[in-house]
Amino acid sequence: MENIHAVYNSVFSYIDEIKISPLSRAYTFSDSVYEVIPFCNSNLIAFESHICRLKKSCDALNLSLNIDKTSKEITDLISRSNLINGYVYYQVSRGIDSIRSHMFDDSLSIETFGYVVDHAFKSQKLKVMICEDLRWQRCDIKSTSLLGNILSMNNARTNGCDEVIMQKNSILTEGGASNVFFANEDTVFTPALSNNILPGITRELLIDEIKQCGIKVEEGDYSVEDLKSAKSVWLTSSTKGLAQVTDIIDLDIKLNEENHLFQKCEEIFVEKFLSSC
Ligand code: PDD
Repeated sequence: MENIHAVYNSVFSYIDEIKISPLSRAYTFSDSVYEVIPFCNSNLIAFESHICRLKKSCDALNLSLNIDKTSKEITDLISRSNLINGYVYYQVSRGIDSIRSHMFDDSLSIETFGYVVDHAFKSQKLKVMICEDLRWQRCDIKSTSLLGNILSMNNARTNGCDEVIMQKNSILTEGGASNVFFANEDTVFTPALSNNILPGITRELLIDEIKQCGIKVEEGDYSVEDLKSAKSVWLTSSTKGLAQVTDIIDLDIKLNEENHLFQKCEEIFVEKFLSSC
Protein backbone atom coordinates (compact mmCIF):
# COMPACT_ATOMS: atom_id res chain seq x y z
CA MET A 1 0.00 0.00 0.00
CA GLU A 2 1.43 3.33 -0.91
CA ASN A 3 0.77 6.89 0.09
CA ILE A 4 -2.17 6.27 2.38
CA HIS A 5 -2.74 9.51 4.24
CA ALA A 6 -2.83 8.93 7.97
CA VAL A 7 -2.74 10.76 11.27
CA TYR A 8 -1.25 9.41 14.49
CA ASN A 9 -1.65 11.35 17.73
CA SER A 10 -2.55 14.41 15.64
CA VAL A 11 0.59 14.24 13.46
CA PHE A 12 -0.22 13.82 9.76
CA SER A 13 1.94 11.57 7.58
CA TYR A 14 1.64 8.44 5.46
CA ILE A 15 0.56 5.16 6.98
CA ASP A 16 3.89 3.38 6.48
CA GLU A 17 5.76 6.20 8.26
CA ILE A 18 3.87 5.76 11.54
CA LYS A 19 5.63 3.96 14.38
CA ILE A 20 3.42 2.37 17.01
CA SER A 21 4.48 0.97 20.37
CA PRO A 22 3.82 -2.75 20.92
CA LEU A 23 2.66 -1.69 24.38
CA SER A 24 -0.24 0.25 22.94
CA ARG A 25 -3.31 -1.13 24.68
CA ALA A 26 -4.96 -1.25 21.25
CA TYR A 27 -2.36 -3.88 20.40
CA THR A 28 -2.24 -5.89 23.64
CA PHE A 29 -5.87 -5.70 24.81
CA SER A 30 -8.03 -4.19 22.05
CA ASP A 31 -8.63 -1.49 24.64
CA SER A 32 -9.85 0.79 21.87
CA VAL A 33 -12.84 1.95 19.85
CA TYR A 34 -13.20 3.08 16.25
CA GLU A 35 -15.37 4.58 13.52
CA VAL A 36 -15.62 4.10 9.78
CA ILE A 37 -16.90 7.29 8.20
CA PRO A 38 -17.81 7.30 4.50
CA PHE A 39 -17.61 10.25 2.14
CA CYS A 40 -19.10 10.62 -1.30
CA ASN A 41 -18.21 13.35 -3.79
CA SER A 42 -16.05 14.87 -0.99
CA ASN A 43 -19.06 15.13 1.36
CA LEU A 44 -19.02 13.19 4.59
CA ILE A 45 -22.12 11.04 5.02
CA ALA A 46 -23.85 11.47 8.40
CA PHE A 47 -20.68 12.91 9.93
CA GLU A 48 -22.47 14.17 13.07
CA SER A 49 -23.93 10.73 13.73
CA HIS A 50 -20.55 9.02 13.36
CA ILE A 51 -18.85 11.55 15.63
CA CYS A 52 -21.64 11.19 18.17
CA ARG A 53 -21.29 7.38 18.15
CA LEU A 54 -17.49 7.68 18.52
CA LYS A 55 -18.04 9.92 21.55
CA LYS A 56 -20.47 7.36 23.03
CA SER A 57 -17.96 4.53 22.45
CA CYS A 58 -15.23 6.61 24.15
CA ASP A 59 -17.55 7.44 27.06
CA ALA A 60 -18.35 3.74 27.51
CA LEU A 61 -14.61 3.07 27.98
CA ASN A 62 -14.06 6.26 29.94
CA LEU A 63 -11.72 7.68 27.30
CA SER A 64 -11.70 11.43 27.05
CA LEU A 65 -11.53 12.44 23.41
CA ASN A 66 -11.37 15.98 22.07
CA ILE A 67 -14.21 15.64 19.59
CA ASP A 68 -13.58 18.96 17.83
CA LYS A 69 -9.94 18.09 17.24
CA THR A 70 -10.89 14.63 15.96
CA SER A 71 -13.54 16.05 13.62
CA LYS A 72 -10.98 18.44 12.17
CA GLU A 73 -8.40 15.65 11.74
CA ILE A 74 -10.97 13.61 9.81
CA THR A 75 -11.86 16.45 7.45
CA ASP A 76 -8.16 17.36 7.05
CA LEU A 77 -7.29 13.76 6.18
CA ILE A 78 -9.84 13.82 3.39
CA SER A 79 -8.63 17.12 1.97
CA ARG A 80 -4.99 16.05 2.13
CA SER A 81 -5.81 12.83 0.28
CA ASN A 82 -7.63 14.54 -2.59
CA LEU A 83 -9.90 11.50 -2.69
CA ILE A 84 -13.46 12.01 -3.88
CA ASN A 85 -15.16 8.84 -2.65
CA GLY A 86 -13.90 6.76 0.24
CA TYR A 87 -13.91 6.37 3.97
CA VAL A 88 -11.90 7.36 7.02
CA TYR A 89 -11.00 4.78 9.65
CA TYR A 90 -10.42 6.46 13.02
CA GLN A 91 -9.37 4.64 16.19
CA VAL A 92 -8.97 5.78 19.79
CA SER A 93 -7.06 3.64 22.27
CA ARG A 94 -6.54 4.09 25.98
CA GLY A 95 -2.84 4.67 25.38
CA ILE A 96 0.52 3.03 25.87
CA ASP A 97 1.34 1.05 29.02
CA SER A 98 4.82 1.18 30.51
CA ILE A 99 4.42 -2.58 30.90
CA ARG A 100 1.37 -4.67 29.97
CA SER A 101 -1.15 -4.66 32.77
CA HIS A 102 -4.87 -5.49 32.72
CA MET A 103 -5.55 -2.68 35.18
CA PHE A 104 -4.64 0.55 33.52
CA ASP A 105 -2.99 3.58 34.95
CA ASP A 106 -5.37 6.57 35.07
CA SER A 107 -2.55 8.86 33.95
CA LEU A 108 -2.33 7.30 30.45
CA SER A 109 -2.91 9.66 27.51
CA ILE A 110 -5.20 8.41 24.77
CA GLU A 111 -3.68 7.37 21.46
CA THR A 112 -5.46 8.24 18.21
CA PHE A 113 -4.94 6.91 14.73
CA GLY A 114 -6.78 7.52 11.48
CA TYR A 115 -6.35 6.92 7.78
CA VAL A 116 -8.28 7.57 4.60
CA VAL A 117 -8.78 5.27 1.62
CA ASP A 118 -10.51 5.26 -1.69
CA HIS A 119 -13.75 3.25 -1.83
CA ALA A 120 -16.29 2.68 -4.56
CA PHE A 121 -19.86 2.58 -3.26
CA LYS A 122 -21.22 0.04 -5.68
CA SER A 123 -24.11 -2.31 -5.11
CA GLN A 124 -23.18 -5.84 -4.09
CA LYS A 125 -25.00 -9.18 -3.92
CA LEU A 126 -24.07 -11.36 -0.99
CA LYS A 127 -24.12 -15.03 -0.13
CA VAL A 128 -24.36 -15.47 3.63
CA MET A 129 -24.53 -18.14 6.31
CA ILE A 130 -26.27 -18.20 9.66
CA CYS A 131 -24.02 -18.57 12.69
CA GLU A 132 -24.14 -18.37 16.45
CA ASP A 133 -23.22 -14.95 17.82
CA LEU A 134 -20.02 -15.68 19.74
CA ARG A 135 -19.42 -12.11 20.84
CA TRP A 136 -19.34 -10.35 24.21
CA GLN A 137 -22.38 -8.64 25.72
CA ARG A 138 -21.64 -5.02 24.75
CA CYS A 139 -21.72 -5.15 20.96
CA ASP A 140 -23.41 -1.74 21.03
CA ILE A 141 -19.93 -0.28 21.67
CA LYS A 142 -17.90 0.05 18.48
CA SER A 143 -14.88 -1.66 19.97
CA THR A 144 -11.90 -2.96 17.98
CA SER A 145 -12.33 -6.31 19.83
CA LEU A 146 -13.88 -8.13 16.89
CA LEU A 147 -12.63 -11.68 17.36
CA GLY A 148 -16.14 -13.18 17.37
CA ASN A 149 -16.95 -11.40 14.10
CA ILE A 150 -13.61 -12.39 12.59
CA LEU A 151 -13.89 -16.10 13.44
CA SER A 152 -17.44 -16.27 12.09
CA MET A 153 -16.75 -14.27 8.93
CA ASN A 154 -13.70 -16.30 8.04
CA ASN A 155 -15.63 -19.52 8.65
CA ALA A 156 -18.24 -18.10 6.27
CA ARG A 157 -15.55 -17.44 3.68
CA THR A 158 -14.35 -21.04 3.98
CA ASN A 159 -17.93 -22.00 3.15
CA GLY A 160 -17.98 -19.79 0.05
CA CYS A 161 -19.90 -16.93 1.72
CA ASP A 162 -19.35 -13.17 1.88
CA GLU A 163 -20.97 -12.44 5.24
CA VAL A 164 -22.85 -13.96 8.17
CA ILE A 165 -26.14 -13.33 9.91
CA MET A 166 -25.70 -14.00 13.61
CA GLN A 167 -28.21 -15.26 16.16
CA LYS A 168 -27.97 -15.25 19.97
CA ASN A 169 -30.41 -17.39 21.98
CA SER A 170 -32.33 -17.92 18.71
CA ILE A 171 -32.82 -14.17 18.18
CA LEU A 172 -31.22 -12.57 15.11
CA THR A 173 -28.65 -9.92 16.03
CA GLU A 174 -26.68 -8.55 13.04
CA GLY A 175 -24.18 -9.30 10.31
CA GLY A 176 -20.45 -9.77 10.95
CA ALA A 177 -19.83 -6.18 9.83
CA SER A 178 -23.35 -4.94 9.06
CA ASN A 179 -26.96 -4.69 10.24
CA VAL A 180 -29.69 -6.97 8.96
CA PHE A 181 -33.01 -6.12 7.27
CA PHE A 182 -35.66 -8.31 5.66
CA ALA A 183 -38.97 -7.64 3.99
CA ASN A 184 -42.20 -9.41 3.21
CA GLU A 185 -44.84 -8.02 0.82
CA ASP A 186 -45.49 -4.73 2.60
CA THR A 187 -43.21 -4.32 5.65
CA VAL A 188 -39.50 -3.96 6.32
CA PHE A 189 -38.20 -5.65 9.50
CA THR A 190 -34.94 -5.22 11.39
CA PRO A 191 -33.73 -6.44 14.80
CA ALA A 192 -34.42 -3.88 17.54
CA LEU A 193 -31.35 -2.24 19.04
CA SER A 194 -29.94 -3.85 22.18
CA ASN A 195 -26.58 -4.48 23.86
CA ASN A 196 -26.05 -7.21 21.26
CA ILE A 197 -26.23 -4.95 18.22
CA LEU A 198 -24.17 -2.06 16.94
CA PRO A 199 -26.49 0.92 16.32
CA GLY A 200 -25.48 1.20 12.67
CA ILE A 201 -25.57 4.67 11.16
CA THR A 202 -26.65 3.29 7.77
CA ARG A 203 -29.42 1.37 9.56
CA GLU A 204 -30.63 4.58 11.20
CA LEU A 205 -30.42 6.64 7.98
CA LEU A 206 -32.30 4.00 6.03
CA ILE A 207 -35.07 3.62 8.60
CA ASP A 208 -35.58 7.41 8.77
CA GLU A 209 -35.64 7.88 5.02
CA ILE A 210 -37.92 4.98 4.10
CA LYS A 211 -40.37 5.79 6.89
CA GLN A 212 -40.64 9.32 5.48
CA CYS A 213 -41.54 7.77 2.13
CA GLY A 214 -44.41 5.85 3.75
CA ILE A 215 -42.75 2.42 3.98
CA LYS A 216 -43.77 0.43 7.05
CA VAL A 217 -40.80 -0.50 9.27
CA GLU A 218 -40.92 -2.76 12.32
CA GLU A 219 -38.09 -3.23 14.81
CA GLY A 220 -38.31 -6.26 17.08
CA ASP A 221 -37.02 -9.70 18.04
CA TYR A 222 -36.88 -12.01 15.02
CA SER A 223 -35.64 -15.53 14.48
CA VAL A 224 -34.31 -17.63 11.64
CA GLU A 225 -37.92 -18.80 11.16
CA ASP A 226 -38.90 -15.19 10.31
CA LEU A 227 -36.05 -15.02 7.79
CA LYS A 228 -37.37 -18.18 6.12
CA SER A 229 -40.57 -16.42 5.17
CA ALA A 230 -38.83 -13.24 3.94
CA LYS A 231 -39.09 -12.22 0.29
CA SER A 232 -35.92 -10.17 0.47
CA VAL A 233 -32.98 -9.86 2.91
CA TRP A 234 -30.26 -7.23 2.90
CA LEU A 235 -27.37 -5.95 5.02
CA THR A 236 -26.36 -2.35 5.65
CA SER A 237 -23.08 -0.66 6.53
CA SER A 238 -21.13 2.50 5.84
CA THR A 239 -18.96 0.71 3.28
CA LYS A 240 -21.54 -1.69 1.79
CA GLY A 241 -24.51 0.70 1.71
CA LEU A 242 -27.43 -1.67 1.12
CA ALA A 243 -26.21 -5.08 -0.01
CA GLN A 244 -28.81 -7.56 -1.14
CA VAL A 245 -28.54 -11.13 0.15
CA THR A 246 -29.16 -13.52 -2.71
CA ASP A 247 -28.52 -16.78 -0.86
CA ILE A 248 -28.50 -17.98 2.74
CA ILE A 249 -26.70 -21.30 2.42
CA ASP A 250 -28.15 -22.99 5.49
CA LEU A 251 -31.79 -22.11 4.79
CA ASP A 252 -34.19 -23.43 2.24
CA ILE A 253 -35.33 -19.97 1.21
CA LYS A 254 -36.35 -18.36 -2.07
CA LEU A 255 -35.21 -14.75 -2.24
CA ASN A 256 -36.59 -12.55 -4.95
CA GLU A 257 -33.85 -10.30 -6.37
CA GLU A 258 -36.55 -8.15 -7.96
CA ASN A 259 -38.38 -7.63 -4.64
CA HIS A 260 -40.11 -4.25 -4.92
CA LEU A 261 -39.54 -3.22 -1.29
CA PHE A 262 -35.80 -3.82 -1.48
CA GLN A 263 -35.61 -1.97 -4.77
CA LYS A 264 -37.56 0.96 -3.36
CA CYS A 265 -35.37 1.14 -0.23
CA GLU A 266 -32.18 0.98 -2.30
CA GLU A 267 -33.47 3.66 -4.66
CA ILE A 268 -34.34 5.98 -1.74
CA PHE A 269 -30.96 5.40 -0.06
CA VAL A 270 -28.87 5.86 -3.20
CA GLU A 271 -30.81 8.94 -4.25
CA LYS A 272 -30.39 10.56 -0.83
CA PHE A 273 -26.80 9.60 0.05
CA LEU A 274 -24.88 8.14 -2.87
CA SER A 275 -26.24 9.69 -6.05
CA SER A 276 -23.16 11.86 -6.55
CA CYS A 277 -20.61 9.09 -5.94
N1 PDD B 1 -18.67 -1.92 10.38
N2 PDD B 1 -22.62 -4.02 12.81
C1 PDD B 1 -21.30 -4.30 12.84
C2 PDD B 1 -20.82 -5.41 13.70
C3 PDD B 1 -20.41 -3.54 12.06
O1 PDD B 1 -19.09 -3.79 12.11
C4 PDD B 1 -20.91 -2.50 11.24
C5 PDD B 1 -20.03 -1.65 10.37
C6 PDD B 1 -22.30 -2.26 11.24
C7 PDD B 1 -22.92 -1.15 10.40
O2 PDD B 1 -22.67 0.09 10.97
P1 PDD B 1 -22.57 1.41 10.08
O3 PDD B 1 -23.81 1.46 9.25
O4 PDD B 1 -22.52 2.52 11.07
O5 PDD B 1 -21.33 1.29 9.23
C8 PDD B 1 -23.12 -3.03 12.04
C9 PDD B 1 -17.71 -1.11 9.72
C10 PDD B 1 -18.08 -0.63 8.36
C11 PDD B 1 -16.35 -1.80 9.79
O6 PDD B 1 -16.06 -2.36 10.84
O7 PDD B 1 -15.56 -1.73 8.84
